[in-house]
Amino acid sequence: MIEKAAAFIAQRDPAHAERKLLLVLGSGWGEAAKELLEEEGSLSYGEIPGFPVSTVNGHAGRLLWGRLEGAPLYCMQGRFHYYEGYEPEVLAMPLRVFRKLGTAGVLLTNAAGGIREDMGPGDLMLIRDHINLMGMNPLRGENAAAYGPRFPDMTAAWDRDWRNRLRQLGEDRRVGLTEGVYLAVSGPSFETPAEIRAFASLGADAVGMSTVPECLVARHAGMRVAGLSCITNAAAGLGGCELSHEEVASTAASAKGRIVRLLQRAVPELSRTLHDHAA
Ligand code: HPA
Repeated sequence: MIEKAAAFIAQRDPAHAERKLLLVLGSGWGEAAKELLEEEGSLSYGEIPGFPVSTVNGHAGRLLWGRLEGAPLYCMQGRFHYYEGYEPEVLAMPLRVFRKLGTAGVLLTNAAGGIREDMGPGDLMLIRDHINLMGMNPLRGENAAAYGPRFPDMTAAWDRDWRNRLRQLGEDRRVGLTEGVYLAVSGPSFETPAEIRAFASLGADAVGMSTVPECLVARHAGMRVAGLSCITNAAAGLGGCELSHEEVASTAASAKGRIVRLLQRAVPELSRTLHDHAA
């Protein structure tokens, strides 16, 4: 299935070998990326053989390709969440398709609730590390040995060099980039205030329902990974009001200017490192 999907995309994208970077667009990030992307082609997920189809509001379920500030890349507009009911191996599939196509690095983006006190709605957070409390791992099951080892190391899951580069861009551009630990839960319910207090004591700075499975699959397959969260709300019990998907979506939309400024610099910077390595 993976070979088939990769061959299908390669056939429609003559420049596929040039695209070393995959950008996975979370809530709020898709609009910004579309503004910056010089699109050269696209497919809806439903057209790609064996590709799952995403179901959440605000996740279009489209693969786009083109250039962003000159950097050739693929963009997944819409991702697959565990809470939608996919089996772990389905969550692993898309990243492996891009690995097969020759992608060497992935920039993961999402919306998240802010746990650390100094984080407010609209802030952007560079993911330094993660805590997986989803209760699942997409690498469970027979090891896909063609991609990577049974017990992949996660000491440097979030690429150190990429983090240094992104941190610098965040400072230079005054995009309000902070840095922290992302804790993943399965969702789809938001957390309780007691859970958020527990997560804070565990060392989490932000909480969300995505991204970690993709990081695990990408690292297993030897890809470089970086992640950016848009903090869309104070996590449960910290902001004095109830949480809703509408609030998440509207804050993410209002952060578009900052997201655009960050992506505009981040994508060519990360892409350059992949082409340097390839050379
Ligand atoms: N919790 C979990 N996921 C989220 C949140 C949250 O508060 N905000 C955006 N995604």
